[in-house]
Amino acid sequence: MKALVLENIHPTAVDVLRSRGYEVELRAGALREDELAESLDGVQLLGIRSNTTVSERVLKEAPDLEAIGCFCIGTNQVDLVAAAERGVGVFNAPYSNTRSVVELVIGGIIALARRLPEKTQRMHDGVWDKSARGSHEVRGRTLGIVGYGNIGTQLSNVAEALGMRVVFYDKADRPAHGNARRMASLAELLETADVVSLHVDGRPGNAGLFGAAEFAAMKPRALFINASRGMVVDYDSLRAHVLSGHIAGAAVDVFPVEPKAQGDEFESVLRGLDNVILTPHVGGSTQEAQEEIGRFVAEKLAGFALQGSTALSVNLPQVLTPTLDGEHRLGLLHHNVPGVLANLNAVFADAGDNVVGQHLSTRDHLGYVVTDASEPLSAAAIEELRRSEHCVWVRTW
Ligand SMILES: NC(=O)c1ccc[n+]([C@@H]2O[C@H](COP(=O)([O-])OP(=O)(O)OC[C@H]3O[C@@H](n4cnc5c(N)ncnc54)[C@H](O)[C@@H]3O)[C@@H](O)[C@H]2O)c1
Repeated sequence: MKALVLENIHPTAVDVLRSRGYEVELRAGALREDELAESLDGVQLLGIRSNTTVSERVLKEAPDLEAIGCFCIGTNQVDLVAAAERGVGVFNAPYSNTRSVVELVIGGIIALARRLPEKTQRMHDGVWDKSARGSHEVRGRTLGIVGYGNIGTQLSNVAEALGMRVVFYDKADRPAHGNARRMASLAELLETADVVSLHVDGRPGNAGLFGAAEFAAMKPRALFINASRGMVVDYDSLRAHVLSGHIAGAAVDVFPVEPKAQGDEFESVLRGLDNVILTPHVGGSTQEAQEEIGRFVAEKLAGFALQGSTALSVNLPQVLTPTLDGEHRLGLLHHNVPGVLANLNAVFADAGDNVVGQHLSTRDHLGYVVTDASEPLSAAAIEELRRSEHCVWVRTW
């Protein structure tokens, strides 16, 4: 069993894969299409980050490939449809950097409430300016969280631990954590919060979610944070409200257009404003998040390859399989058409094999059924399933 791991993925991933019996080949950088296709001979698992493109052509030339781990959040670099058609599972790490984002936001709130950007700048300029003017504790202040998902809820818990009051607004019906209070509308949140922090997702309808009207509706001298997506905020309006003094400070980590390469010039209307913290999309970028991403994705790859679990796959039907405990498992990835399950169960019945558990899930054109039985099916029965018209692959564990 062989895994090819590119792009300096954290060593925890390698440890997990080696501990499950994989021979792991490591390459520091990304590979171009030709090099990648050539390198996948005999490789079952591929680990990449965002700089390796896995095209349909690469997938066609990699018959041994079973799964791709994107050791990052995004999966645009992989042709997900072509991978699904070939039964290649794709996994990523959507939640491994949640805590890192929360800590940056908390740091930003405290720094802005104490006007640290100005204070540290003055010290670097050689000016001793000791004063409590405009500096506040965050204890007792109200934090308004817009988007109460993974990050929003964890921020809610940490902010309450600091003594902040928390209100939130989410389009979906999310339960409140701790003493947080749900707001009926964004407008209600804006008139209640001393600090507004955005944590919505990147669905198309969220473009321009926060503009002139929303900034104007915030409390005078409130603070504003965006570590979600650049396109959700009109930064010209933010600039105008910081300059007018209506907004007392802002921390911004994400921008509608971000430089592509390390060292490229960063252009923004927010540059040069007082009490505005600008960071280069580093909310989720910590060593701890990298380590967790390495562990998480490697576990998903191993769970798929060694137990047939497609839990959290981004392109295959999701089946979370129970841990094998002496049963004989058969996984059948198939086209999502009527009759496949009946045929499969007829094969088990004909073999006199007792089915002890069965899990089915479908997604678009594919279905995935995992059957645990008391005895292994014969090679001939497995071959019969493999040859059936709608089979993508059959695997046994
Ligand atoms: N700065 C970084 O480095 C960094 C790192 C990780 C994630 N992110 C971004 O943070 C954001 C949140 O991530 P998450 O994992 O918590 O996502 P999530 O999907 O778990 O939560 C998003 C929440 O926002 C809600 N929502 C969406 N649109 C809304 C709207 N218009 N009004 C109110 N609620 C709305 C959804 O119902 C959901 O509960 C995402 O945009 C993600 O891309 C940024």
